[in-house]
Amino acid sequence: MTNDYTPRPEDKFSFGLWTVGWEGVDVFGPASRPALDPVESTYKLAEIGASAVTFHDDDLVPDDETRDHTLERFSKALADTGLRVEMVTTNLFSPPIFKEGALTANNREVRRYAVKKVLRNIDLAASLGADTFVLWGGREGAEHGAGKNIRASLDRMVESLNLFSAYVKEQGYNLRFALEPKPNEPRGDILLPTIGHALALIAELDDPQMVGLNPETGHEEMAGLNFAHGIAQALWHDKLFHVDLNGQHGPRFDQDLRFGAGNLRGAFWTVDTLLGSGTANAYDGYIHFDYKPPRAEAVDGVWDSAKACMRNYLILREKVQAFRADPEVTAALEAAQVAELDQPTLAEGESLDDLRNASYDVQGLADRSIAMEALDQLAMEHLLGVR
Ligand code: GCO
Ligand code: MN
Ligand code: MN
Repeated sequence: MTNDYTPRPEDKFSFGLWTVGWEGVDVFGPASRPALDPVESTYKLAEIGASAVTFHDDDLVPDDETRDHTLERFSKALADTGLRVEMVTTNLFSPPIFKEGALTANNREVRRYAVKKVLRNIDLAASLGADTFVLWGGREGAEHGAGKNIRASLDRMVESLNLFSAYVKEQGYNLRFALEPKPNEPRGDILLPTIGHALALIAELDDPQMVGLNPETGHEEMAGLNFAHGIAQALWHDKLFHVDLNGQHGPRFDQDLRFGAGNLRGAFWTVDTLLGSGTANAYDGYIHFDYKPPRAEAVDGVWDSAKACMRNYLILREKVQAFRADPEVTAALEAAQVAELDQPTLAEGESLDDLRNASYDVQGLADRSIAMEALDQLAMEHLLGVR
């Protein structure tokens, strides 16, 4: 073991203020913990090793007489701790006005109000130096069939994103948007349910470069999908603008467990993918945790779980690096012909006739060993700590 698993600034760990600030309100009961002061949480996050924070407008600065004073206190906390705000997002889901959607509500006044709320928050994000602006459509979707025209919803989503991108460019802000897919919850099906849906929508925008993704571990796994594969594809499209790491036990409600809990093997391959192992594209953004400390924990457990997110990331990073550096793994990768996939199927200068006219040892190829179990077992043993 080379690492003492102490988070360092270059690890770029970041937390949403709403994560540690979750009071435990769920569908079966009210808050089980007191509200934390977001400014105090900022100091505490710095103390435990985070290097940035993120927030929804309403987590930090509700639209009331406390706004200016809170912003002053928050700015002082940033200056005192050296933390930065790397991402800002808008609460377009809790206020009852958004009960039937925000940017895609049937009601046009609601949509106009939602756009206004986002614009104000874009100004705040830019003034605090954030470079990513996340849009998660928690209430954009439907619980019913005929009540929502999905094609019109997509038109309105595109309209909103085009308006926001044009506004950011006109203001000269250094800000990009990141869409956060999620399949469902609390009851309805959500628009842009997966990474793939969101990527397809981005291609339809006036300025696709302005918009990328903020995929979340649990959200893809709720849909039974492979998160590491999803973010690999997002990286391949140059669209992994941000990431929400957490844990999830398979397809069910969004659990928002601490990173590493739930699907541990998935977390191993997630870290491997973020590090860009074996490929040209690594992720260089913030390692952002979007999790919920269990409702049963008191405030001490909140901070234990936040520390554990970072610690688990660092442990897994060490395991992944050891796996990739292991000579037996190099040999196993070779045996599994992993690098051969980098070679185009048709070599330069070849035509389709070249592959048509070639002869193939069909039986021999069918009988060949793919040697992947041995390779996977090496990963398993690194993860289990026996190598
Ligand atoms: C959730 C989401 C949110 C978003 C956040 C950013 O399932 O509740 O993951 O936590 O990430 O609202 O906009
Ligand atoms: Mn979530
Ligand atoms: Mn999230």
